[in-house]
Amino acid sequence: MRRGTNSVIFSPPTKNPENNFHPVLYQIGECQDCDALNAALRARIEFLPQNDIVRRHHYLGGRYENLYVAFESMPEIRVILDLATAQAAHILNRPKKDLRVGWWLNIMRPGDITFAHTHDADDEILSGVYYIDVPPDSGKLVLIDGVRREEVQPQAGVFIFFAPEILHEVTRNESGRPRISVGFNIGPATAP
Ligand SMILES: [Fe+2]
Repeated sequence: MRRGTNSVIFSPPTKNPENNFHPVLYQIGECQDCDALNAALRARIEFLPQNDIVRRHHYLGGRYENLYVAFESMPEIRVILDLATAQAAHILNRPKKDLRVGWWLNIMRPGDITFAHTHDADDEILSGVYYIDVPPDSGKLVLIDGVRREEVQPQAGVFIFFAPEILHEVTRNESGRPRISVGFNIGPATAP
C-alpha cells in the first residue's frame, strides 16, 4: 500500500493566480505524483471498518461531517500529514518541528453538503484540507470573510490552506460518487 509514496515531492504552496488583485483567503499546495497514494487512501476508506471511526462530530444534514480515524487504521495518511505540516511551516515561517497536526475525514455522499463553519475552537494557527477524491460537480469550497466570498474548485492531490477563523462551506455533491477529503488543523507542538 506504500506504492507511490516515495515519489512525493514537497512544493511550497502557491497563490491562486486568479486572486492577485487582493490578498487571497487561501493558499494552494499540492501532493505531486500522488495518484497511487490517493488510490490507496480511497481503497482504505472504502473498506474501513465502522469500528475504526473512533469519533464522529458535526451531525448536520443527516450525517456526521467529521470522522476521526486512528492513525494506525490508515497509515498511508502519514505522507499527507507530513506534507501538510511542511507546507504549513512554509506559510507560517515556523520550524516544522514546532507544529503538530490534527486531522479528520469528510466523506460527502451524493446529495450531501458541508455546512458553514470555522476551525478556531482551540489553539489552531492554520487550517486546511487535502483532497483525495473530487468527482466532477461534487462540490466547491466556499470561503467567506465578511462580504468577501471566494469559491474554489478543488481537485485530487491539492491542499488548500486558510486561517482557522475563516468561515467556509462546501456546495452540494451533485455527482453520483463520494467526495473525499481530509480536514486538518495545525497548532503549536507544545502548549505555551
Ligand atoms: Fe472545515
